Amino acid sequence: MRPEVIVSPVEMSVRTLRNVREGKTVGLVPTMGALHKGHLSLVERAAAEVDVVVVSIFVNPTQFGPNEDLESYPRNLEEDVSLLEKQGLASVVFAPTVSGMYPYAENKTWVIVEDLDRHLCGSSRPGHFKGVTTIVSRLLAMVQPDAAFFGLKDAQQFYILKRMAAEMGFRTRMKGVETVREYDGLALSSRNGYLSQAERDEAVVLSKAVFMAKKAVETGSIQSGKGVQQLLESELNKAVLGRVDYASVVDSLTLQPVVEFKSGQELISAVAVQFGKARLIDNSIALVP
Ligand code: PAF
Repeated sequence: MRPEVIVSPVEMSVRTLRNVREGKTVGLVPTMGALHKGHLSLVERAAAEVDVVVVSIFVNPTQFGPNEDLESYPRNLEEDVSLLEKQGLASVVFAPTVSGMYPYAENKTWVIVEDLDRHLCGSSRPGHFKGVTTIVSRLLAMVQPDAAFFGLKDAQQFYILKRMAAEMGFRTRMKGVETVREYDGLALSSRNGYLSQAERDEAVVLSKAVFMAKKAVETGSIQSGKGVQQLLESELNKAVLGRVDYASVVDSLTLQPVVEFKSGQELISAVAVQFGKARLIDNSIALVP
């Protein structure tokens, strides 16, 4: 099945009304394109839960900082649509233009989730999550999905969006989907394509570090944020071509760093490493016993 490509937000809203009239449940997979197996696993999960899968493809300018890769971010709509056609599960690709999503030259309406963006990617990418929550709230308003699916590789993004949807009164169920990995554990990312072979070989330290942290939390062998942070850093520092951006343990509800662990607490051990042009992230989620 070749998905129908819709560019205009008005047309998307008309299609939404048709879905409602026909009593069809809708799942949204928001993406910035450059689709890989990780995105296809979100589509697969959506197709298992809803009648109509809508994949949005939009490189959202407001979530990129001034020195980030907005201009060079990979864009190939035709290839993305072909991949989805081959997979055969998505009914609609919503690929709006910048002026479709931002109708005024200067955007004045923002959706901001306070405090949850203070650490991890929020502190190294100021303004990033304000762009993400603003665009996703617009997509939810246009598509009105019953459920939306996000990769847990961006755990901070997922927990911020979940909070945003609940507090804004969107009826959409927000679903976090397990990260898809390469043979050696490296999380799939559209930015992996920027890596040289030597950097690619070293990039395995991210997944190794977060898996070690998960084990240390779940077995109780380390019981403090500082201890897990040291463990993460010592693994990441093995990559001589990478520069560690952050290595941190936060509570999944508050997204604030944790000092002492409490039984039943859900923790995210998260890392970011810059390899040349590629900034890679990874995390693991663990329950304190
Ligand atoms: O994770 C992404 O690709 C983006 O941040 C998202 C959720 C599509 C919003 O632009």
